[in-house]
Amino acid sequence: MAEHGVIIRAGEVIDGANRMRFRADVAIDGDRIAAVGDLSDDTAETEIDAAGRIVCPGFIDVHTHDDRMLRDAGDMTPKVSQGVTTVVAGNCGVSLAPLVAAERPMEPLDMVGLEGDYRYPTFAGFVDDLTRRAPASNAALLVGHGTLRLAVMDDTQREATPDETAAMEEKVAEAMASGAVGLSTGLEYPPARRCGTGEVVALAAVAARAGGVYATHMRSYGADARAAFEEAVRVGRDARLPVVISHFHCHADGNPGLCAEALGWYDESRGEGVEVAVDAYPYEASSTSILPRFVEKSAKVLVAWSKPHPETNGRYLHDIAADWGVDAVDAAERLAPGGAIYFGRDEENVKRLMAHPAVLIGSDGIPLNPHPHPRLWGTFPRVLGRYVRDLGLMALEDAIHRMTAASADRFGLRDRGRVETGRHADIVVFDPAAIADRGAYMEPERPAAGIDRVLVNGVEVWNARGHTGAAPGRVVGRRTG
Ligand code: ZN
Ligand code: CU
Repeated sequence: MAEHGVIIRAGEVIDGANRMRFRADVAIDGDRIAAVGDLSDDTAETEIDAAGRIVCPGFIDVHTHDDRMLRDAGDMTPKVSQGVTTVVAGNCGVSLAPLVAAERPMEPLDMVGLEGDYRYPTFAGFVDDLTRRAPASNAALLVGHGTLRLAVMDDTQREATPDETAAMEEKVAEAMASGAVGLSTGLEYPPARRCGTGEVVALAAVAARAGGVYATHMRSYGADARAAFEEAVRVGRDARLPVVISHFHCHADGNPGLCAEALGWYDESRGEGVEVAVDAYPYEASSTSILPRFVEKSAKVLVAWSKPHPETNGRYLHDIAADWGVDAVDAAERLAPGGAIYFGRDEENVKRLMAHPAVLIGSDGIPLNPHPHPRLWGTFPRVLGRYVRDLGLMALEDAIHRMTAASADRFGLRDRGRVETGRHADIVVFDPAAIADRGAYMEPERPAAGIDRVLVNGVEVWNARGHTGAAPGRVVGRRTG
């Protein structure tokens, strides 16, 4: 007989460790899980009835561009409304710190911050901001290589000098000491395209010494994807740290077979002594900057935002081009800087990725976009509703494992990602029959269906009535739990 803060009663617990679900009560004291089992003799200040519901760890969104949303719109509604309790920010080489830039930064840094947003000489300054005014979700932070290059190089369209590399190494060390969980790169993007592999190995080695991971948007996801994949594995091997390859939707133009091939490289790489994981999201369209070379490869493009032509937000590029009497590439040049949603992936490949046991779920959502890709609001419910329940591609336990414990282990998030006594109480209660994403490409900003309760560090942030206004999130990592 014990008295707890919260007891979630009679749910089907899926604990995150890829074990079969079991009926149990879950007790929470403060920010920790106090007990899991038959707690019918215990009482609590707050009792939650979860009969007929799944009770599982809060989802960890391993691929986000949420840096600024964490700081400026800390309610994190697009994330907590779908059951996400921790986001990994700073992906694709783009982190809000450490960089000071009065003007709008070059793409793709403008995915995360605009004029005046990059105001951090140190990574610690950003961590301080998130600590002083906590967001509703937890944040695990990567330090971005593109950001580092802009911070130390006057011209990023070349290799870094030894002095510049040393300056970046120092900044990686500072970021890791301030609580970052690793280094990210975006080797396909303008700030990093000209860098050599040696530079990346040098910086990754600094992250490795502090126990970090290496997350990479590879140099290519098309014709040169194989070499790009080998480069990622080489960085892991030479710098001695685990590798996460971002949005592993390899799709060379006109070669839908590349995705299966790439998963084959992944399987082969497992013998090489490097821990490799990949992340992916459950949609046929991608989204990033408006760049003519991406537009050329895509049959259908939706404008997410345009700085010079905000009136085109949410319109199709071919309609805009027709209105202007120019071709799509010319229209894209006029619309930049901006962001777009690119269609053209094969749904069979999306299914293949979602079902693969190595794929962690990461939304790659871009909250700064006025017309975002629906992945920002719907990634996790879409996997559980469409790919698990409706299409039956994998077990619910497997999918949840790759949204929780597997992700926590990969990013070194101590004591998260499991419903287990002593762990942090990041918990989702949802209805497996009702869970679904509700956003669409033309109307992306809609909360998911079927999410009953979302608790972060033992505090309810979302329920059937909406956001509770609570902001119990923390900067999390190996040391900070
Ligand atoms: Zn990326
Ligand atoms: Cu990304």
